[in-house]
Amino acid sequence: MKTKLDNRLLTVASCVEKGAYLADIGTDHAYLPIYLAENDMLSGAVASDIHKGPIESARKNIADAGLSDLIHTELTDGLHGIEKYPVTDIAIAGMGGMMIAGILEAAPFIRERKTRLILQPMQHIPELRRELAEKGYRIEKEVQTMAEGKFYQILCAVYDGKTREICDLEAYLGAYNIAHKTENKENFTLLCKRHLDILNEKIKGMEKGGHDATAERRLAEEITRELREIET
Ligand SMILES: C[S@@+](CC[C@H](N)C(=O)[O-])C[C@H]1O[C@@H](n2cnc3c(N)ncnc32)[C@H](O)[C@@H]1O
Repeated sequence: MKTKLDNRLLTVASCVEKGAYLADIGTDHAYLPIYLAENDMLSGAVASDIHKGPIESARKNIADAGLSDLIHTELTDGLHGIEKYPVTDIAIAGMGGMMIAGILEAAPFIRERKTRLILQPMQHIPELRRELAEKGYRIEKEVQTMAEGKFYQILCAVYDGKTREICDLEAYLGAYNIAHKTENKENFTLLCKRHLDILNEKIKGMEKGGHDATAERRLAEEITRELREIET
């Protein structure tokens, strides 16, 4: 029986280019490369994880699917040792945004080869957008999805060496999402509402503690304006 993915990993999979050589970093059970290989999307893959348990489970699942010749495995931290594979696309899903940024920073080969990055951070998404902008990565596309009641964001980026400054609004909502908001009203609305909830909680806490929340309030106003624009 073919592997099935939930909406989150399915959306990550949809960002991988047909014929790619994929590196799935922090692969856990290797569901992503197995699904893509079973659907003839890959020319090859390497599935890696820092922990022994996940990589053993990945190896077993890959062997059970009869894909050991196509999908290699590596027990390694981040992208260490992955440069020996002819990787075109890298997926890093289900980790914190700052951890993802650290993994990218430690791997110069992705900048030299302009490897496509498909990133699905769980937290610290504004911080990751800022890092990518400051370190010379261009966001080519962003997609969002709901899975089991949770909202997930996927960022597709590639290194072009141009450093960019982004404002708070762009860090929170994503310049790509702002530019494409009318094409993707439903997800953009969810994105705005999610950040407004978080910001309003933060503002309440700051004001209670006697801290200056001017910047947060300004950002909340800007997001509210974006939301109104999409609703009218
Ligand atoms: C929450 S799971 C996500 C699994 C899968 N990528 C997904 O999105 O469903 C995170 C995985 O990343 C692995 N991991 C954490 N830090 C890592 C690192 N620095 N390098 C490689 N793998 C790492 C963990 O062992 C774990 O298997």
